[in-house]
Amino acid sequence: MRLRSLLNLRIVRSLTIAAISSVAVASAAVASDLPPLGDLPFVVGGRPIDGMGNNLADPFLGSAGTALLRLSPSVYADGISAMAGAGRPNTRVISNSIGGQVGSMPDGNGLSGFFWAFGQLLDHDLDLTFSNPAEQANIPILPGDPLYDALPDGGKLVPFNRSAAVAGTGTSAGNPREQANEITSFIDASFVYGSSDAQLALLRASGDSGRLLTSAGNLLPTNGQLGIDSEARNDGLRVAGDVRVNENAALTSLQTIFMREHNRLADAIKAADPDLTGDQIFHAAREIVAGEMQAITYNEFLPMLLGQEKGLEPYNGYITSVNPGIAQEFHTTRLSFFAVSKRSSRQVRFRGCF
Ligand code: HEM
Repeated sequence: MRLRSLLNLRIVRSLTIAAISSVAVASAAVASDLPPLGDLPFVVGGRPIDGMGNNLADPFLGSAGTALLRLSPSVYADGISAMAGAGRPNTRVISNSIGGQVGSMPDGNGLSGFFWAFGQLLDHDLDLTFSNPAEQANIPILPGDPLYDALPDGGKLVPFNRSAAVAGTGTSAGNPREQANEITSFIDASFVYGSSDAQLALLRASGDSGRLLTSAGNLLPTNGQLGIDSEARNDGLRVAGDVRVNENAALTSLQTIFMREHNRLADAIKAADPDLTGDQIFHAAREIVAGEMQAITYNEFLPMLLGQEKGLEPYNGYITSVNPGIAQEFHTTRLSFFAVSKRSSRQVRFRGCF
């Protein structure tokens, strides 16, 4: 298969990840037989980083910054924007009841902790709300909490900010508060590249390599290296397309693997056709990485999540009438699901990151 075909995401989706990887390298070897990549419509300038233009009829659908969809109406305390749940049990108590465990609980289907780690990575490709630090809704820790109440400093609150309101919403019962998705709603490896030009500019290596920046040891770049955090204590934290990259070591590892995969592809593409510009190399590698993420998701992750019998229908082409945006219901409940699915493994966290 030629690189041109590989850049068609519909074809990439149908391949196994091993096949994509070997085809990507083999294709790069024949890339010089192809018309210049810049002439191919799906590569010119690359797909917009913010996900614009996926739906030709409504270019904004699924793009970064658009409001989350609602499958059911909101239920604010005042019907407009005030947080609900005043009479409900404490969040941390619910979390402990559902997620607390002693000892290992192996998954019935033999899935390892890698399953939730990939789920987290995938979720970070899909949704993130703008946080509003001015609207704190910190969660009180009740006496006797099995973890936090035992901390020497008391640890009496879990810091929590509300998601920011979409400007102009939350003004009346007829116009209740809405929240927006800060990143693209598509499985497009935005966790590698970001969802804005500014984030991408931070991450790209200079010159014509088409590569992403690295740090010593072929690791992700750091805050200190890029000079983007005013607090020295954060200098060692890693930087990637998604701000949650440091949440736990499994996630950071996966982010690193995808960054390295981009660079591996970029090197192979450049070796096959040294005349390509850095932009052409970059966007060709980016297309393939997005295709790999889709292939893993649809061919391996979702069948395990949904079960083979209840798996997805085969892909039969783009349906213009479907809004690809992320729903509030998906965004809000994914943690409940994964809090349960990740119970079988020990988590390794970076101390002091969150
Ligand atoms: C050890 C495991 C995890 C830790 C420590 C963790 C921690 C966090 C933290 C601290 C945030 C807030 C980030 C910020 O505001 O900048 C966050 C957000 C988020 N996490 Fe996780 N998380 C974990 C696992 C997961 C998993 C398994 C999923 C999904 C399957 C997930 C999906 C999300 C999403 C979608 C958000 C954004 C929430 C929003 O925008 O309102 N996380 N996580």
